[in-house]
Amino acid sequence: MNILVIGSGGREHALCWAFAQSKRVGKIFCAPGNAGIAEVAECIPIKPEEIERLAGLALEKEIGLTFVGGETALALGIVDAFESRGLKIIGASKKAAQLEASKAFAKDFMKRCGVPTAEYALANSSARAVSILESGVFGGPGAPVVVKADGLAAGKGVVVAADRAEAVAAIKDLGSVAGSEAASKIVLEECLTGREVSLLMFADGEDFVLMTPTRDHKRIGEGDTGPNTGGMGTFTDSSLLSEDQLAEITETIIRPTLRGCIAEGFPFRGILFLGLMMEDNSDPMQKPARQQGLSTNVDHHALTDVRASAGRSKLLEYNVRFGDPETQSILVRLETDLVEICEAMLEGKLNETDIHWRPGSSATVVLAADGYPQSPRKGDVISGLETAAAVPGVTIFHAGTSRNAEGELVTSGGRVLGITAAAESLDGALRQAYKGVDVISWNGMQYRRDIGRPIPSTAGSA
Ligand code: AMP
Ligand code: GLY
Repeated sequence: MNILVIGSGGREHALCWAFAQSKRVGKIFCAPGNAGIAEVAECIPIKPEEIERLAGLALEKEIGLTFVGGETALALGIVDAFESRGLKIIGASKKAAQLEASKAFAKDFMKRCGVPTAEYALANSSARAVSILESGVFGGPGAPVVVKADGLAAGKGVVVAADRAEAVAAIKDLGSVAGSEAASKIVLEECLTGREVSLLMFADGEDFVLMTPTRDHKRIGEGDTGPNTGGMGTFTDSSLLSEDQLAEITETIIRPTLRGCIAEGFPFRGILFLGLMMEDNSDPMQKPARQQGLSTNVDHHALTDVRASAGRSKLLEYNVRFGDPETQSILVRLETDLVEICEAMLEGKLNETDIHWRPGSSATVVLAADGYPQSPRKGDVISGLETAAAVPGVTIFHAGTSRNAEGELVTSGGRVLGITAAAESLDGALRQAYKGVDVISWNGMQYRRDIGRPIPSTAGSA
C-alpha cells in the first residue's frame, strides 16, 4: 500500500518512520516533507492547505492511505474532500476539527457534554472582553486570567495573564499577535493550576484506544522560563497518570466527548488529543477568589462548581491531531503496525484491535535554531548527526531542516531536530537522548537540559 503523510515537521517525520516499519507499506510520500523525511519518503512540494492538489496527488500515486499531520488542512476539510473522492484518509472531519479550530465552539461543546473544564466567558469584541473582565467575573484585579483567541493561531493565541491589567493588555494585542480573524472572538478563562498532561487516543467514531500519556515542555528556557514555543521536548512515562486518574478521565471527559460528537452529528474518527490540567490541590478553601468572583454579567459563560471539581482532571483543550513533539516520543514506543491501527479506525474496529506499546519510557529533546521562537535563523550547517544516530536507542526526527546548494544539511525552521530515545526507564531514555544531543551542533543551537524533569506546579505555561 502506498502512503501519503501531510506536513513537514518532526511529527510527520515520526509518522513516516512508523509507516516505514510496516510490512504492508509500499512507497511513502510526504507533502511537503523536509530533508530528514526525504530519507524515508518521496517529498512532494505541495502545502497542506492545497487540498485539491493533494487529492490529485493521492489519485495519481495510487495512495491507499493518507495521514494528516496538522490542524490546518483538517480545519479546511481535507478529510471530507478526500472521502468524497473515495480516498482513504485518517484525520478529523471538518466539523469535528472545530473542536480545535474554534476555542469558543470547544468550550460550549464541553459545557453541553458536562466535561469538566475552566470557567469561561465569550466575547465578540475586545471592548466586550474588557468589560467582562472589569465586571470581576474571574475574581478581583489581582487574579490571573487566561485570554485566548478563538481561532487557529499556531500557538500564539493564548496568554496566561498574571492579573487584570496584563489581561487587558493581552486582549488589546491579541489581534496583532494571533491575527485579526483568529481574534475576532475572544475566550476568557479562569486560570487553573496543577500539572499538565497530554493524553492522546486513536478514535474510530465510537471506540477509542489510549496512547501512552505524555508531557510537553512548552517554554524555551530551563525551569519553564521565557517565551512559549511549539514544544521543546516531551516524555512518556506511566507515572504521568495513575490507573485511577485514567479511569476518571475516561468517564468524565472521553466518553462524554465521543458521545457528544455522535449526538451532534460528527462522530470523531482520527487522533484526539486532550490537553489536561491535573489539579493537585484538592482543598477547595484554596480557591476563594474565583468562588467569590462569579457574576452572571457576561455574554455567555459556564459556572462550573469549582468546589465539586477541585482536585480533579480538567480539560484545557482538544486538539484533533497528533502533537508535535508528543508524537515522536509516543511512536517510538508503538509496537503494533500503524497501518493496522489506521485500518481499524477506518472500519470502526478499534474495539477488536490489540495495540501494544513497548514497556518503559521515552523522551524527545528538541534542538532549536538561534533566535527561536521570535526569529529563527536559517542556513546554519548542522554537524554530528551520524554519530548521534549511532547512540543506542536513539532515533532522530527532523523538523526544520533542508539542504543548501552544497548539499549540506542546514537549519530551515525554528525547531530543527528532535532527538528521541526509548528505554526501560525515563532516566535511561533521557540519558540516551542527551548523549545524542551532546554530539550535535550548529551555530546558535538551543535546547533545554531539563526535559523529563519535574516542572513546578504552575498556572499553564503558555
Ligand atoms: P490551549 O491552546 O487552550 O491548550 O492553551 C495553551 C496552553 O495555555 C496550555 O497548554 C496551558 O499551558 C495554558 N492554558 C490554557 N488554558 C488555561 C487555563 N484555563 N488555565 C491555565 N493555563 C491554561
Ligand atoms: N506540542 C503541542 C501541540 O502539538 O499542540
